[in-house]
Amino acid sequence: MNILIIGSGGREHTLSWKIKQSRHCNQLFILPGNAGTAKLGENVNLNPNNFEQVKDLVIEKDIELIIVGPEEPLVNGIVDFFESQNELKNVKIFGPSKKGAQLEGSKDFSKDFMFRNKIPCANSKTFNSKNIEEGFSFLEKISPPYVLKADGLAAGKGVLILDNIDEAKRELREMLINKKFGDASRSVLIEEFLDGIEVSVFFITDGKDYIMLPEAKDYKRIGDGDKGPNTGGMGAVSPVSFADDDFMKKVKNKVVERTVHGINSEKINYKGFVFAGLMNVNGEPFVIEYNVRMGDPETQVVIPRLKNDLAEIILMCLEGDLDKVSTKFKREYATTVILASNGYPEKYTKGKKISKVYDDEDTLIFHAGTKLVSGDIISNGGRVLACTGFGSRLSEALENSYKKADEILWDDKYFRKDIGKDLL
Ligand code: AMP
Ligand code: GLY
Repeated sequence: MNILIIGSGGREHTLSWKIKQSRHCNQLFILPGNAGTAKLGENVNLNPNNFEQVKDLVIEKDIELIIVGPEEPLVNGIVDFFESQNELKNVKIFGPSKKGAQLEGSKDFSKDFMFRNKIPCANSKTFNSKNIEEGFSFLEKISPPYVLKADGLAAGKGVLILDNIDEAKRELREMLINKKFGDASRSVLIEEFLDGIEVSVFFITDGKDYIMLPEAKDYKRIGDGDKGPNTGGMGAVSPVSFADDDFMKKVKNKVVERTVHGINSEKINYKGFVFAGLMNVNGEPFVIEYNVRMGDPETQVVIPRLKNDLAEIILMCLEGDLDKVSTKFKREYATTVILASNGYPEKYTKGKKISKVYDDEDTLIFHAGTKLVSGDIISNGGRVLACTGFGSRLSEALENSYKKADEILWDDKYFRKDIGKDLL
């Protein structure tokens, strides 16, 4: 069948790479894609949030399966749109409904969902401009650090962690009154601080059953030693040594099964990936957030470890047959190091020519912010390439990732030098 993947990042290049290997995949289309996906299928330059245009493309190219990479079209209701089109009854779309996507689109919704379903998470209260004074008194009652979260999607920037109460009050006002994050901060959650180590857990659900994917650790800050501003993620490793059998058993029992049970009992239409960002607090999992999609750059280490045909899993999921799927993972380590444009996540330049981009036996290069111009690979974003390395030991995988990170050349290349070092 012809398959469409929506998105343009390293996650979507990785999904394209995997889907292209499927026995179900005939032609592959990527919307809008990047220089990496252009080698696997046809990039189509459309806005994924213009559903009518996506529909025209689906009809024109005889597409039968749509896989949605990023959260935005999901939160905007792309799944409900396609499921409501009578003339597209043979088109399947993988991802949660608009309501399901609220698990990521509204932190207040997702917190209530966790409370209702007894999923371990930080205590929190939500405030808006009308009861901001109550927010100030709430801050006075709790102890620092203070965690403030914009309710809506804020491109990964909507969380502030502050040590000082005056600063916390100032920022609460900035968010609620001065709309620091626009509409996303119309409501703000004040949350208990969780002290631990983070791990990203992934599963696929059809709303009744689930299959686990490998876990990963993401390195979110721009600088070595976890210094500097947050980014989309500067590197990742999988598997994660501290997510041992004992911990993962708790994750399944207290997080994954309760999440799927909640989706089922609340009649949420959800056939898609779930990404639970967890904090391991003294061996106990707490959910920091849900995402209704795969992580980026976690996908670049998780998906290459999956041995199954991913399109087959997705088709089984869409049929409600996930209970019949049994997964197999490679035991080897996968690590990825993101090559970014100097200055990211703030100001950076685009349009630089990149050379020496080659996969080899122990590495795969996944593209993010790149485009092809007259056959040349040109930088076109903050996060540009992901160097995924493999090895039977973590150190070996990292050596392979870093060999590529050094080899690939362009002016303005920046990468962290310490990905995975804390786990060696
Ligand atoms: P989020 O956008 O919800 O993933 O939050 C961004 C980052 O803020 C997370 O990856 C954590 O590192 C941190 N964070 C969020 N909530 C908490 C919390 N309650 N306690 C400690 N750190 C948190
Ligand atoms: N790497 C974190 C995310 O995809 O949200």
